[in-house]
Amino acid sequence: MKQEAPSKATAGVRRATAVAHPNVALVKYWGKGCAATNTPATPSLSITLDTLKTTTTVVEVRGTDHIVVNGRQVADAKIEGFLRLLRENFDIPPLAVDTSNNFPTASGLASSASGMAALVTAINGAMRLDLTLEEQSRWARRGSASAARSMAGGFAILDARNGWAAEQLLAPDDWAINVVVAVTSRERKTVGSTEGMELSRQTSPFYEAWLDSTVRDCDAALTAIAHRDFAALGSVAEASCLRMHAVMLTTDPPLVYWNAGTMEGIRRIRALRETGVGVFFTIDAGPQIKAVCLSGDTGKVRAALDDLPGVRDIHVTGLGSGATCVPS
Ligand code: PMV
Repeated sequence: MKQEAPSKATAGVRRATAVAHPNVALVKYWGKGCAATNTPATPSLSITLDTLKTTTTVVEVRGTDHIVVNGRQVADAKIEGFLRLLRENFDIPPLAVDTSNNFPTASGLASSASGMAALVTAINGAMRLDLTLEEQSRWARRGSASAARSMAGGFAILDARNGWAAEQLLAPDDWAINVVVAVTSRERKTVGSTEGMELSRQTSPFYEAWLDSTVRDCDAALTAIAHRDFAALGSVAEASCLRMHAVMLTTDPPLVYWNAGTMEGIRRIRALRETGVGVFFTIDAGPQIKAVCLSGDTGKVRAALDDLPGVRDIHVTGLGSGATCVPS
């Protein structure tokens, strides 16, 4: 493809745009092994969502950083802190960062995962840092541990084997799975994951048992994926989700992320499964319910969740790829 000559105004200015997708953990991460390096205490395993996305452009500027999130200039402590961390390690000039999500931000739809993955990818592209995907995954993890998995895409695992960089286990097309996301609230969550998991570590009587069970769940999920055993994957994913929420509920003060729509969604998904539909649920640090299903069953799952009490939006998505740079 012929490259366009840069205009005089933009000649020599380093810039890049990246797209990354959020991911949903099937074996959850809720607890840090090392806060300083943002290393999880346990392995986790996720699927990446295709139609939900974060698009981030970074441009080298004069003066100071300028951060725009969803069209509004903001002081974003997470992005600012992450830029500081990168600058301790790389020569990065002041940047204009413009990032937007096509889904609600900070409401349990993993916007921080796709956000950090897109940011690392765009900075790597614009500043020509030449980081490998694995290195970018490690840096994304420093910003938000789940972001490491969005770098890899498809079915991804984040564990110690690969020095806490995520690895892709299956490509998006390797297993015909869809996810129906029922957004039951568009409000930002009141307690973020970093603060929440630290509170759980300090106060939940179930925390140590949770860490142990996650290691076993990860092994069971790997076996289920290797055999394309959807029922086995569903049973371990629901158990991991409910155990994580049990830890959240037994945190002091308690972390109650669900609403009535979440609860009714669980009931309907279980009832649907009783009729032979291939579906299971998972829920993160927010009230949104995510129904993971065999793609042939997507219509039935969507129909069951469409009129959920309080439902705001329904997103139907296939599995997405890892973060990449796109033409700016
Ligand atoms: O990576 P963080 O700090 O956004 O934490 C993610 C926590 C959960 O979404 C609840 C679970 C997970 O593994 O994604």
